[in-house]
Amino acid sequence: MKKLAIMGAMEEEIEPLLSHFENVKVTEFAKNKYYELTYNGLEIVVAYSKIGKVFASLTASTLIEKFGCDTLLFSGVAGGINPTLKIGDLIIANKLCQHDLDITAFGHPHGFVPEGAVYVETSKELRDIAFETASENGISVIEGIIATGDQFVHSSERKKFIEDVFEADALEMEGASVAVVCNALNIPFLILRAISDTADMDAGFDFDEFLKSSAKNSADYIIKIVDKINK
Ligand code: ADE
Repeated sequence: MKKLAIMGAMEEEIEPLLSHFENVKVTEFAKNKYYELTYNGLEIVVAYSKIGKVFASLTASTLIEKFGCDTLLFSGVAGGINPTLKIGDLIIANKLCQHDLDITAFGHPHGFVPEGAVYVETSKELRDIAFETASENGISVIEGIIATGDQFVHSSERKKFIEDVFEADALEMEGASVAVVCNALNIPFLILRAISDTADMDAGFDFDEFLKSSAKNSADYIIKIVDKINK
């Protein structure tokens, strides 16, 4: 690996990462900030995209095409669907889909557009490293399907739709768009999330309450994964 990208969506999601690293150089590009640093000899670029699929696609593309990153790790929070996932718990995506992509009017399945695919798979190699890291550090994490859409989900009906149609274990607003970019550009990537809420009626309240602590759970684990990658 030449250069590692670590991405979040919100400032709160990358703050625990930035506070772990030293001598960070800030570069502004396309109305966003990119934080370049060296960590134990490894070049890393950290950025938060802002919320949603469009900003996340822009940031992932920039990290790869402008900054030359050749591996991407995403760290952040998600709404839990799988009932075994409690607030603070960790999930690594084995594949991701866009739950709000809908041209079913033309007979296509939900989440599909021609020349695309409903699901994009993440790197098996990075997942293996992440699970090895977890077992070595006594970290509990599950693997599952993450559904992405430009909606903060806070209703049992929408949550059930996403669970029924996509068999998703968690949902958020960026992962699948990062997956599409990395897949198209042939960049291995990992999407890690910690649960901040359970996407139902209380989601807005829980998200505000648990964003920081769950973001830190995810970031602390990402740093351990980086240490393992760099061994
Ligand atoms: N990220 C964290 N919680 C979420 C929710 N309920 N909906 C969308 N994205 C989220």
